[in-house]
Amino acid sequence: MRIAVVHGPNLRLLGRREPAVYGTDTLEDVDRAVEALAAQLGTEVEFFQSNHEGAILDFVEEAAGRVDGFVVNPGALTHTSVALRDALLGVELPFVEVHLSNTAAREPFRRHSYLADVAVGAVYGFGVHSYLLGLRGLVSRIDKK
Ligand code: DQA
Repeated sequence: MRIAVVHGPNLRLLGRREPAVYGTDTLEDVDRAVEALAAQLGTEVEFFQSNHEGAILDFVEEAAGRVDGFVVNPGALTHTSVALRDALLGVELPFVEVHLSNTAAREPFRRHSYLADVAVGAVYGFGVHSYLLGLRGLVSRIDKK
């Protein structure tokens, strides 16, 4: 099994971006933790980050030919992007939505997600563990198929 982990806009600033909200782990730390869990689960992973919506859409389309599902932290695109929703629906692969912060406990505009209702599941509020829990959930869902 192979999973793509997609990080949306501004996530490469992790570690120095609003540490009170997002913690002090860097994106590299997140990726290394995901890689370690993936190895335990016997799953291959690849990572992609972009600040550009179109680049993320292109990645989803390209990667769909080689992966079995996506773990996606869409960043602010969560709350704005019908295009990302359509891309993920279009490739017909399962995905999990993850957020470092608890978006439900923040500004009202973060409460709506364009992805959550078409995701296999969503995990928010656990920092890097949101990715790890999301990966576990996705792998177990794909294994059952
Ligand atoms: C985020 C939450 C989003 O609302 C925000 O725009 C981000 C990060 C998170 O991981 O908590 O960029 O996706």
